Amino acid sequence: MSILFTPHKLNELQLRNRFIFSACEDNLASEQGFVSDALIAKNRKIAQGGVGLIITSHIAVHPLGRTRKRQLGLFHDDMVPGFEKLVAAVHAHGAKIIFQLGHAGSQTKAAVIGRKPLGPSALNADMAEMSPDQIQEAVLAFRQAAERAVAARADGIQLHGAHGYLINQFLSPYFNHRHDTWGGNPENMFRFLKSVTLEIQQVLPKGMPLLIKLNCNDYTPKPGITPELAVAYAERSAGLNIHGIEVSCGTSLLSPWNMCRGAVPAKEIAASFPEPHRTKVENILSGLEGKFTMQEGYNLAAAEKIRLKSGAVPVFPVGGFRRVAHMEELVSSGRTDFISMCRPFIRQPHLVKQIQKGELDAAACTSCNRCLAAVAGDIPVRCYQKQFPKP
Ligand SMILES: Cc1cc2nc3c(=O)[nH]c(=O)nc-3n(C[C@H](O)[C@H](O)[C@H](O)COP(=O)(O)O)c2cc1C
Ligand code: SF4
Repeated sequence: MSILFTPHKLNELQLRNRFIFSACEDNLASEQGFVSDALIAKNRKIAQGGVGLIITSHIAVHPLGRTRKRQLGLFHDDMVPGFEKLVAAVHAHGAKIIFQLGHAGSQTKAAVIGRKPLGPSALNADMAEMSPDQIQEAVLAFRQAAERAVAARADGIQLHGAHGYLINQFLSPYFNHRHDTWGGNPENMFRFLKSVTLEIQQVLPKGMPLLIKLNCNDYTPKPGITPELAVAYAERSAGLNIHGIEVSCGTSLLSPWNMCRGAVPAKEIAASFPEPHRTKVENILSGLEGKFTMQEGYNLAAAEKIRLKSGAVPVFPVGGFRRVAHMEELVSSGRTDFISMCRPFIRQPHLVKQIQKGELDAAACTSCNRCLAAVAGDIPVRCYQKQFPKP
């Protein structure tokens, strides 16, 4: 039997194989952030397709931490029953499900949250610096969302510490210019993630995994998290007794083509802007085409450096895994314990079963990134490689 189909544990959570569906925003929640039938149907299909673990899309822990209007939320007790149904649907098909909790920080719009977005520092006039009380409120919101995740029978929690959202913003010298106890040096910049982790650990049942998704490189216009800083943060995270680190890169707003290497779908992204901006955006994005071509396992080398400093904590990169022989080689040689993928499952929800049956040598996703353009356009995420909906 291929090692890819051997069970493996995250803390005490046993997964049936080594495949993880990495967090994937789908624009399928209700406008209030509740689980919808369509969202359950999508996850049921992925679970039926044989994956070991589903990590949910980014779930907002606080109303001011919402990224977009159809994003999931866990900031109210009324939201729990929908998540219970989601968990049951996934468990019915043998997969496990971990909730990805996050807060947008300043990476959202006033139109979504009803006020100026909040971040560790105000980098421009459209955002506001968080007060110490607002920081404590956000930490508490993570704890409360974790309690609700436990009530909904989640199999674990992943903190979204990557892609330019609030946790990433505190960690990054690009976003965090504070001089109080929340900034100014790596220890202080790590404090927000540490506080959230310590709060959540108080409410998680024994054995339940707590994971963190971290950037190995922010690729911001001025230095943010660099590979060296990422290693230092991973070492600190491992010291907090977390149970897994997923390694990614880029920020959704400033460097999405690093996060999701491949094509730059200029026309499809521009479609979400009204004229006269549409033509300008399309021209700017067209100039980026060819600069971010797919590289197989593009966060693998950084993840290996992080692994060296993370002791026994499983470290698994995400980004650009497509060939089955490559996946097999990586797990067999111990370079990663899990194969985490996102876009390949959007295109082929039954990918794992197809690999198990020996039906394919590689995932069919072409990394055209039109599914990412769907996120930007607030339309349901699916594979639009053949055709993108007209605006
Ligand atoms: C449509 C889409 C939605 C995504 N939503 C999330 C998300 O909610 N949270 C997150 O951490 N990453 C998100 N990502 C990033 C993926 O989890 C993953 O890091 C990235 O796509 C690279 O992996 P891949 O090459 O296997 O697609 C998203 C990516 C895509 C394409
Ligand atoms: S639209 Fe389809 S082929 Fe293109 S990147 Fe997304 S999943 Fe892959």
